[in-house]
Amino acid sequence: MMNFTGKNSVVGLMLLVCVTSCRTADEFKKETVDYVKLEKSYLEVATVADGLHVPWGIDYFDGKLIFTEITGKVKQLDLETGNVSILLVLDEVFQKRTTGLLDIAVQQTTDANPFVVLNYTAEEDSMIVSNLVRYTYTGDTLLDPKKLLVAKGYTGHNGARVIIDKGDIIYWATGDVADNTQAQDSTTCNGKILRLQLDGSIPADNPIPDSYVYAWGFRNIQGLTLGGQGNLFTSEHGDAIEDEINRIQPLHNYGWPQIEGMHDTPEELAIVENHRRTEPIKSWTPVIAPAGLAYYNHSGIPEWQNTLLLVTLKSQTLRVLLLNEDHTAITGEKTYFSDRYGRIRDVLVAPNGDVYLATSNQDWNPQPGFPLDTDDRILRIRKTPDIPDAEAYVEADVYEDTNALDGAAIYKNYCASCHKDDGMGVANSFPPLKGSRSINNTAAFIDILLNGTDGQQRINGVTYDQPMASFSFLEDEELSAIINYVNTAFGSGRLILTKEVTNQRQRE
Ligand code: HEC
Repeated sequence: MMNFTGKNSVVGLMLLVCVTSCRTADEFKKETVDYVKLEKSYLEVATVADGLHVPWGIDYFDGKLIFTEITGKVKQLDLETGNVSILLVLDEVFQKRTTGLLDIAVQQTTDANPFVVLNYTAEEDSMIVSNLVRYTYTGDTLLDPKKLLVAKGYTGHNGARVIIDKGDIIYWATGDVADNTQAQDSTTCNGKILRLQLDGSIPADNPIPDSYVYAWGFRNIQGLTLGGQGNLFTSEHGDAIEDEINRIQPLHNYGWPQIEGMHDTPEELAIVENHRRTEPIKSWTPVIAPAGLAYYNHSGIPEWQNTLLLVTLKSQTLRVLLLNEDHTAITGEKTYFSDRYGRIRDVLVAPNGDVYLATSNQDWNPQPGFPLDTDDRILRIRKTPDIPDAEAYVEADVYEDTNALDGAAIYKNYCASCHKDDGMGVANSFPPLKGSRSINNTAAFIDILLNGTDGQQRINGVTYDQPMASFSFLEDEELSAIINYVNTAFGSGRLILTKEVTNQRQRE
């Protein structure tokens, strides 16, 4: 990220904004806050709404953003006028810490009165429940509530995300309500992705007849999006380690609580020998507290086509995750806006390719320097013809799998003769890299490649008595490409920057 402080940038940006204004009404904005440099173009980040209170979920309908605030309001932002109005005030919401009015999904239809589905926690007979309720949108209010489904609620781990696909099927991602018996029990509604129709009934083609359960084994899903190839993706909070992105397929079991993140401990590897469990396609340790997730495939920002946009709370970022062609792997990660806007709760891709972010600085866990006077805000990102000064734009930290092919090719050349193409090594001679602790520790991994080993390793009860030679003759880019390939193919999926290798080499 470039070094420039918020205050200076605002002054610089104001000047730029003045000479490039001239916008039509549908391009409403309050203020340009940043420019972002991509490979070929610049993006503009603008505030389109402020003074909000934790806008938790946003959806789009007919030139409007329709969004929740955690304390119980549903509001709409008219993207032509910038006007924000209240559609509904829900009095029965139970709001404390992470509970409250959470996600919203609007039916995708040309009908002027689509259904709108809300998910919120409420207290019933002194028990917390998580309600999925359908309303009808009239343009200026929400009417006719119908309760579709009620799951167990709790003071935390309620999930949640809701989407409605083009075929009017609702997907509801619930949390495990901090109860370790839920996620692996196929008969309960918690720790699941549930699939239902707009009238609350179970679709005839659900994977388990007469059951809402679509996929299971989850802890606390915070992001859900349709990936454009029929599959869903989720973002999920790990416990102390391993925040995840999962590619969701019907009836797959994602392993929580016996398995956390990648299948890389001896206990986890023993479970997956006998039970089918699906690994995340990406995990992060240290954790980043992932939140909203949206699939981007619009020509509006060509550099972001076929990516997942993920926003995060703890690390306060927007992450652009590059997908491979068949959506089975994440091959690169770019991180934007670290600590600039504070916590970011949700992300939406509008039909015209504009991206909206909702901040979450009025929530229970504000970070240093936040909330700002204007929090919470909805920010809009789109391509701009403006060419900002070099000092006035934000660049991404690029964690790229330099390119997946290179890493794989270099691995094949230098490593596969011993550790094998599948990373399983050779019994008692060359240790497996899949499940290796050393590869999940970036510093340790770089050290092994730079310095080799002394041939005294005891790994998972097996002694390896041959040393491994140093690979310090490879360039830093080659080493980071190998590490990123090995981590993607056999490890935690964490990607490193080439400069991490450079720095460690210089220190030695
Ligand atoms: C000639 C065989 C050989 C080649 C080639 C080789 N290794 Fe190794 N590797 C070993 C042996 C043997 C060990 C165990 C070393 C010991 O006991 O000190 C090892 C250990 C490791 C470990 C530590 C594993 C653990 O769980 O602690 C990592 C990581 C590793 N190698 C990565 C690589 C990578 C990446 C490459 C390619 C750049 C590579 N190795 C090339 C033989 C090889």
